This record gives sequence, C-alpha cells and structure tokens, in this order.
Amino acid sequence: MLIRRLAAEERLTTSFPLQAYAFEASPLTRERVEAFHRYLPYNKGNRTLVVEEDGETCAAASAVPMRQNLRGAVLPMAGVAGVATHPLARRKGHVRALLHQLLDEMRDGGHPLTALYPFRASFYEKFGYVGLPRARTVRFSPADLGPLLRAELPGTVTWERIGAGYDRFRSFTERCLRERHGFAIFPDFRDVGLRDRDDRWLLTATIDGSTVGALTYRIDDHGGELVGDDLLATDPYARALLLQFLARHVDQVERISLQVPADELPELWLTDLAVHVEARVARPGSSAPMARLLTVDALAGLPAGPGRVRVELVGDRWLAGTHLLDGATGHLELTSGGPAPTATLTAAGLSALAYGVLDPAEVDVRGLGDVGPDAAVELRRLFPRAHPHLFADF
Ligand SMILES: CC(C)(COP(=O)(O)OP(=O)(O)OC[C@H]1O[C@@H](n2cnc3c(N)ncnc32)[C@H](O)[C@@H]1OP(=O)(O)O)[C@@H](O)C(=O)NCCC(=O)NCCS
Repeated sequence: MLIRRLAAEERLTTSFPLQAYAFEASPLTRERVEAFHRYLPYNKGNRTLVVEEDGETCAAASAVPMRQNLRGAVLPMAGVAGVATHPLARRKGHVRALLHQLLDEMRDGGHPLTALYPFRASFYEKFGYVGLPRARTVRFSPADLGPLLRAELPGTVTWERIGAGYDRFRSFTERCLRERHGFAIFPDFRDVGLRDRDDRWLLTATIDGSTVGALTYRIDDHGGELVGDDLLATDPYARALLLQFLARHVDQVERISLQVPADELPELWLTDLAVHVEARVARPGSSAPMARLLTVDALAGLPAGPGRVRVELVGDRWLAGTHLLDGATGHLELTSGGPAPTATLTAAGLSALAYGVLDPAEVDVRGLGDVGPDAAVELRRLFPRAHPHLFADF
C-alpha cells in the first residue's frame, strides 16, 4: 500500500472525485466537476493523504490546520475531513493506515488536538476520539420576540452582506476563540470561502465600540424561514440586540431557526416564547462532533482545581505512559513522583476529561478507563465539567 501526500492541483482528479462520491449526489454533473477548480484555493493549506494501488487513488483523508480553545488555551488542532475509500477498496485497512499517518504527521507538526464530525462515532472511538455536544437548533416565531421591540438596549446592530462585513466577523470569531472553551476556527485560506460565497447576511452587535455578538443567516422565502447559523453573543445584551433585530421580521417570515451551544437555554430568553430546541444525532448524515488529545503536553498549564492523580494511558498510538497530574498551583502540572491514587485511561477517556464532557464515573461506566472512587474525586477536581462549543463545521 502506497500512501503519499497530494500536491494542491492533484486533488482535482484524485481526492475530490472520491470525496464527492462519498458525500454528494452522484454521478456528478459536468458543472459540479468544473466547480472543483473554484474550491481548490480553500484546500491549499490542508494536508491530504491518499492510498494508491496500481496508480489509482483508492482512499483519501485530509487534515485542516485549525486552532481550538481548550479550557482557555488556544492550541493548534487538526480538523479531519474528507475521509473516504472507494467502494471496491473498503474494509482493507486503508483508512486505518491513512489516519495513523495523517495524525502522526499533524502531531509531529505541532497539533496537540484533533476534531472531526464522524459518520459513526464508534469508528472514531477506536482512534481515541470522544463525543462533544452537538449544537442545538432553536425554532420559534418572530411574533414571540415582540416584547424585545420595546426594550431599551445599549449598543447598535450593523446589517450587511457577509462579503462586505467578513473582516468584522472574522475578528469577532477570533475573540470567541480566545474566550470560549471548545471554540475552533478555520485557517484564513479556508475561512475566506464564507466571504467569497457571499450567500449570507451578517448581523453584528456593537457595544462601546466593540463587537459583542454576530449572526450569519439567510431567508428562504417570503412567509418562510429565516435560517440562522450560530448565534454568537458574549453576554445577554449582545444576544438581546440580535434577537431584537430578528423580532422586526414578524410580517416577513413564519419561523426563525438558529444554532446555539448545548448549554444555552432559549426557554429562559423571554416570557411566552414558544420554542422548540433540538439536537438530532443520526447515522449517517447528522453527527455530533468528536475530538481528542494527540499529546498529554496539551494539558500542561491548563487551569485546574486542587487534585492530584496518577494516570496510566493505555491502548493508544499517540498517548502512552504514566503521568502524575497535579493541580495544586491552580494550573495543571505533569510531574513524575509522589503518592497519588491511580486511574487507567484510554485516549478517549483522557480526552473526555480534558474537554470536560464526561464525569470520571461516566468514563468508568463507558469503559473508557478504570477509575476507582479515590481517583474519581481527584480527577473531578482537576477537570470540572465544561461545555465545549466547537462552532466550526467541516
Ligand atoms: C467509512 C470508510 C471511510 C471506511 O474506510 P475503510 O478503508 O473501509 O476502513 P478500514 O478498512 O481502514 O477500517 C478500519 C476499521 O474500521 C472498521 N470499519 C470499516 N468501516 C466501518 C463501518 N462502516 N462501520 C464500522 N466499522 C467499520 C473496519 O472493520 C476496521 O476495523 P478493525 O481496525 O477492527 O479491523 C469507508 O467505508 C467510506 O468511504 N465510506 C463512505 C464515506 C464515509 O462515510 N466516510 C467517513 C466520513 S467521517
């Protein structure tokens, strides 16, 4: 089996057709094949590896060099995408070999984190990934936002096409990256696709000269739906400014839908707001994201409570060995000596604790480690529960 990295232009005839077969309606129209050229610049900085047999490409996988916030630290993250094997070559170990090499190379290139949207979570759990919460879709009628129309709010909103306001949006997502656990953004070469497609409205909220909220959206029809992407707001005033603008669409659309992080509670936004909140996870097609650490060094210096535990990392290609985790200084330190309760963790188990998505007892129950009660107490102090919001969709 030959694995090699593609040069940018080679994607047109190798990985793009393979990925299109796996993820799109097919056979492809001539227009769609011609559109591959337009998509090329947004892939240029990705690392794309393929498996070749007899000169034919039979499997592909890419990593997008992204950045992600892990409990306040902004770290390089490999966003894995476009994983596909030709149907005639499936179940021969191609993707296993590709993922091993791709993640080896991304980790060696300085990416301590990786995330993806799985077709099937159990497939990627074998590679050490653990599930993160899925963004919720919120649906309501603009009529129910009526009380906000009369609210006196500080700040202003700006309304424009994303093509015009892209720089403002990008710098606000950079702020969210610094401030919000789990938040991940694309590298510039990929992110500018949003500006270039220019198929969204951009609404931003500003208070005291700084951007505090943003929403990209489109309207599908008169009397139809205002379809929002992620509602990004740094505080309740920012959110209220954005919702107040949406309230003005009462005679224009029947419904509004938005994406919100899993810890957002829209039923508390307003009195008499009839709202439907949904997280749909289905196979294939509608997945919750997954993520993992590629090195324990990603933990060093993260804010932590005063716990102390020894973790033995097992069953993984990238995370191994025994490490003493100590939070006595308020920041995680990885040391070597001293007495402490011990837990055995898989890569998915440690990643679940680092991202804050599972309690140590759940790690034990889920079979992602062997965590006794004493070790669980220490791990709970070191890694309080948290709600990562991934944001980027790839
Ligand atoms: C899913 C897909 C990428 C797997 O590729 P592949 O080259 O057949 O995978 P491999 O042969 O390397 O399999 C690796 C392991 O996963 C298992 N596996 C493969 N496909 C699986 C599936 N659909 N469900 C569960 N396990 C699967 C294999 O048995 C193997 O297990 P092992 O390590 O215990 O032996 C391929 O079937 C495909 O292209 N599907 C359509 C596109 C898609 O869904 N891509 C994933 C996007 S996230």
